[in-house]
Amino acid sequence: MARVAFIGLGVMGFPMAGHLAKAGHEVTVYNRTRAKAEGWVAKHGGRLAATPAEAAAGAALVFSCVGDDPDLRVVTLGPDGSFQATAQGAIHVDHTTASAGIARELAAEAAKRGFAFLDGPVSGGQSGAENGALTVMVGGDAAAFERARPVIAHFARAVTLMGPAGAGQLTKMVNQICVVGVVQGLAEAIDFGLRAGLDMKLALEVISKGAANSWQMENRGRTMIEDRFDFGFATDWMRKDLGICLAEGARNGAALPGTRMIEGFYREIQAMGGGRWDSSALIRRLRKA
Ligand SMILES: NC(=O)c1ccc[n+]([C@@H]2O[C@H](COP(=O)([O-])OP(=O)(O)OC[C@H]3O[C@@H](n4cnc5c(N)ncnc54)[C@H](OP(=O)(O)O)[C@@H]3O)[C@@H](O)[C@H]2O)c1
Repeated sequence: MARVAFIGLGVMGFPMAGHLAKAGHEVTVYNRTRAKAEGWVAKHGGRLAATPAEAAAGAALVFSCVGDDPDLRVVTLGPDGSFQATAQGAIHVDHTTASAGIARELAAEAAKRGFAFLDGPVSGGQSGAENGALTVMVGGDAAAFERARPVIAHFARAVTLMGPAGAGQLTKMVNQICVVGVVQGLAEAIDFGLRAGLDMKLALEVISKGAANSWQMENRGRTMIEDRFDFGFATDWMRKDLGICLAEGARNGAALPGTRMIEGFYREIQAMGGGRWDSSALIRRLRKA
C-alpha cells in the first residue's frame, strides 16, 4: 500500500480520495476550504494537510482534482504548491479537466524536478466518482502510467494511456465535444415532443431501445422532462471545458461550428442564473421561449 496525497475534495475529488482510503492506502488530503477536508478525515481517517506542499511531502503518488488551469497552477507551482515538496521518483496524477498546454508545461517542470506528471481527466460524473467507475484518459510517460494505473483503478472502470503529456486532456476535449452535441439534440427533441403533446417519458423509453439512445438519454432524459437540474456537472464547468476545446480548435484548425454555437447557449444559461445547474439545463432556454 502506498502513501498518497489528494488535493481538491470537491464533488469529484472527495469520493475519489475515499476509494483510495477504502483500498487501504495511507491518504493525506488537502482542500482549500478546510471544513471539507475535516469532513473527509472524519469519514475516512487519514491525515489533513494545511497546504498542497505539506500533503505531497513523502507521498509516492500525488493526486489533484481542482477546477481550471489557474487553480491547477496554484496547487502545483504556487508558493505552497505540491511541486515544492514532491519527492524525486514520485508521480503526480492530475484529474482536473484543464488545457493540454498546462499538462505539457507541468510534465516538463516535473521532469526537471525528478518526478513524473500525468494528465488524467475523467468522465463518468459524480455518480462515476462515487461508484468508483470513472473513465480515465491519461497523457504522459508510459512507465509512470504503468506504476500509477493500479492505484487509479480504485476509482475507475477504465484507465487508458492515450499518448504523451496533454493527450489525456485532448481526449477529454473530444469527449466534451461529443457530449454537448448529444445534450443539445436531446433538449431539442424533448422540447419538440412536449410541444407536440407527446408523453415524452414514454417516447424516450421507446426510442432508447434504438439508434437514438445515449448515456444522456438514459441518465438525463427523465430529469430534463421534470425540469430538475440541482445535481451533476455544473454549467460553469461545461463552459470552461468548451472554452478549452475552442482554444485548442483555434490552434489545430478544427472549426467546431456546433460546439461554438452551444457554448453560446451555455452562456445564456449562466445569464439565467444557472451556473451551478447541471449541464443538461440547455433545455431551459428552449422551454422558456
Ligand atoms: N462534477 C463532474 O461531474 C465532473 C465530471 C468530469 C470532470 N470534472 C472536472 O473535475 C474537476 C473538479 O470538478 P468538481 O465537480 O469536483 O468541482 P468542485 O466540486 O467545484 O470542486 C473543485 C475543487 O477544487 C478546489 N479548488 C478550486 N480552485 C482552487 C484553487 N485556486 N486553489 C485550491 N483549490 C481549489 C475546490 O476547493 P474549495 O472546496 O475550497 O472550493 C474544490 O476542492 C473540474 O475540472 C471538472 O471540470 C467534473
